[in-house]
Amino acid sequence: MRENDISAVLLAAGKGVRFKSEFPKVLHNLIDKPMIYYPVMALKKCGIKEIVVVLGFGADKVEAYLKSAFGDLNFTFVLQKEQLGTGDAVRIALPKVRSKRFILLYGDMPLIDESVICELIKSSKRADMVITSFVADNPSGYGRIIRDANDNLLKNVEEKDASETEKKIKEVNAGLYLCSTGLVKKYIRMLTNNNAQKEYYFPDIFRFALRENVEISIFESKQEFLLGANNRAELSLLVKMLQRRINRHLMLEGVTIIDPDSVFIGDSVEIGRDTVIFPNVFISGNSCIGKNVRIENGVIISDSDIKDFAVIKPYCHIDRAVVSGDAIVGPFARLRPDTFVDREAHIGNFVELKKTYMGKKSKANHLTYLGDAEIGSGVNIGAGTITCNYDGENKYKTILGDGVFVGSDTQFVAPVKVGRNAYIGAGSTITEDVPENALALSRTPQKNISGWVLRKKKKIKK
Ligand code: UD1
Ligand code: MG
Repeated sequence: MRENDISAVLLAAGKGVRFKSEFPKVLHNLIDKPMIYYPVMALKKCGIKEIVVVLGFGADKVEAYLKSAFGDLNFTFVLQKEQLGTGDAVRIALPKVRSKRFILLYGDMPLIDESVICELIKSSKRADMVITSFVADNPSGYGRIIRDANDNLLKNVEEKDASETEKKIKEVNAGLYLCSTGLVKKYIRMLTNNNAQKEYYFPDIFRFALRENVEISIFESKQEFLLGANNRAELSLLVKMLQRRINRHLMLEGVTIIDPDSVFIGDSVEIGRDTVIFPNVFISGNSCIGKNVRIENGVIISDSDIKDFAVIKPYCHIDRAVVSGDAIVGPFARLRPDTFVDREAHIGNFVELKKTYMGKKSKANHLTYLGDAEIGSGVNIGAGTITCNYDGENKYKTILGDGVFVGSDTQFVAPVKVGRNAYIGAGSTITEDVPENALALSRTPQKNISGWVLRKKKKIKK
């Protein structure tokens, strides 16, 4: 056992029956991440790297998620086949705990943040064990904290075992503890399920510990960090609380959010000063938005970089793309993965880019699909241009040099390359490379047949 470090035990075996879901409760999302992400992230930010996770329903799914989301943490997963209570869950986890002390918390505590855990650790001082409490607006369902005449912990009483007087107490057990591994090992053996729910209650160990004068302190926290959700209606309230917390933080850091109630931003998104976010915007994942950016109504951005002074006009969908400084995108544009829009480029309405580099100051302003393309700088792409990048089996590249002018309604049948400053006549289907400075035309010459309409009308009359 190591003296100084603290590990964690995270309980997440419950199904969350009232979610009426085939997925475990802890995998339901708040904004852009599953519930269980948040307590794990809070532990990580406090420097806790070893986490024993107790799983039950949907164990494989939760394990897969945690491993993929937190590759840098050291998880040990243990299976609790039957949910016999929090005491039973801790008993199963204990043999895997290697540190001298551990934080005990739940996977369905999504509002917790690192400040709570760090303060809990700080508050422990000399105490061997710390139990966290908060004053609940509505304490029903929680264990009540019973204090003695000196305000010290006497015991925790579960709602179903509580007397009418005890039920009136509003200070409740949050389900967040700092424990001495040795003491928990000693007292957990004494737990019985002789109570109203026939469950092994973890907090019962405090009764045994107090009898032997173990020092136990109560860490008083706040409801806003410790609420859980038993159904999807309650979950939506937690989402609102998280949304307000994240948006408020961003606003205090210098971001303008015109209507914070309608804007959802994930907790790992970074946004620079003087950026303005319009209503109904959703920004998720590891997106990074620069300074002085404008993100207008209804824009959805995930895992993308939008650099300083870019403007994203209404209703764009941007996924794993980069938009450089001073570029203008939208309205109604779609940037798909591996797209890079260089400085001062313009991407207009109903334009889709996939795996495409759009050069400096180049423009594709209307109704265009560019896929697997490399567009040089100062290129003008006319309305209705399409790269035919896929032959049903493979994808091919379209490469346009600097200064190329593409007339409207052009198709590039890839693989194809157009040299610098070349000119493509409108309505062309380009199947072969075009040398630089050349004009390429592929449409059939127009012929006008004079008086044709008049002769046709005469025939119909007869
Ligand atoms: C528990 C506390 C209660 C406290 C409340 C705070 C006990 C006996 N009671 O209530 O005092 O006010 O938390 O939310 O500890 N879990 C398992 N295995 C089990 C049982 C539970 O992994 O056998 C997990 C659940 O998935 C959940 C967490 O532990 O994440 C808490 O379980 P839950 O049933 O919500 O808590 P209670 O026991 O009702
Ligand atoms: Mg319960």
